[in-house]
Amino acid sequence: ERLHKEIAASTANNAEELEAYRMRFINKKGVVGDLFAAMKEVPNEQKKEYGLQVNAVKQAAEAKFQELIEGVNSGTKDNKRLGIDLTLPATTLPVGGIHPLTATRQRIIEIFERIGFNLSEGPEIEDDWHNFTALNFPENHPAREMQDTFFIEKKPDIALRTHTSSVQVRVMENQKPPIRTLSPGRVFRNEAISARAHCIFHQVEGLYVDRNVGFSDLKQTLYHFAKEMFGKSTKVRFRPSYFPFTEPSAEIDISCQLCGGKGCNVCKGTGWVEIGGSGMVDSNVLENCGIDPDEFTGFAFGMGIERIAMLKYQIKDLRLFTENDIRFLKQFKPLL
Ligand code: PHE
Repeated sequence: ERLHKEIAASTANNAEELEAYRMRFINKKGVVGDLFAAMKEVPNEQKKEYGLQVNAVKQAAEAKFQELIEGVNSGTKDNKRLGIDLTLPATTLPVGGIHPLTATRQRIIEIFERIGFNLSEGPEIEDDWHNFTALNFPENHPAREMQDTFFIEKKPDIALRTHTSSVQVRVMENQKPPIRTLSPGRVFRNEAISARAHCIFHQVEGLYVDRNVGFSDLKQTLYHFAKEMFGKSTKVRFRPSYFPFTEPSAEIDISCQLCGGKGCNVCKGTGWVEIGGSGMVDSNVLENCGIDPDEFTGFAFGMGIERIAMLKYQIKDLRLFTENDIRFLKQFKPLL
């Protein structure tokens, strides 16, 4: 009678309590087992009655055990107590977004990879040869000042790279044409930080060297890029310019994304915005890198990733990219 009461009153809210119940009533060494073991001490004429009673306890204990297992498995006991409803949809965990510069770089890489460019990387701390001399910057030439270089103190030969053209020098020194490579990376220039300039920014430069590469190839490649990046109706124009490492050289403009070329304050009324520089690799550069300029020609271009991202997402202040203001970054979640 006492055991029947105890069994009926048993509860199990979790696996440990269930196990405790099992040890007490179901296990051979538990109380029910003890009752069976005591059978041999019961006088013969009472054995039948005793056996019936012990079997009843055993059955009650087992039935209760099944009930408790089901209770714990469905979680109803615990969850009711804690107020949890397992049928509700799960709450989503907070996830980060992709930084707009990363997304822009990835998109640029994707576009050029599809037309056969591979990726190349090089050191951010460069020597004079790879950043300047090999690229046809004569010593003491004012063009070196154009780049506002950060030098390493007491080591005038070592500087933070001012462009990723240095990576392309390394590629040309180590590989034979055909070369079709894209060099994205961080570059450094001693410029005052403003809405439009930063002393640390990102570039992606492209280089194509092979037999019979002409200016028309350069134009078609960048035209293709502009349309893929900014949309089919984007126009491209090339403005004559100067870089020591290309001849001829051209600035690359695209039609303004905001006004579609009609003129607004982003393009200062001109309808065009500059996205980078380009040109045919100067024969001196090819020669410096051990490539015969009589056999091979090439084109190169360089663009600022911040610039492209600003145009693509209409970001007005370049400093936003590095301030890590969560309100700014959150807007790019859909890029995931
Ligand atoms: N390296 C140049 C710069 O950083 C960009 C450029 C690359 C121009 C290749 C022409 C050709 O300003």
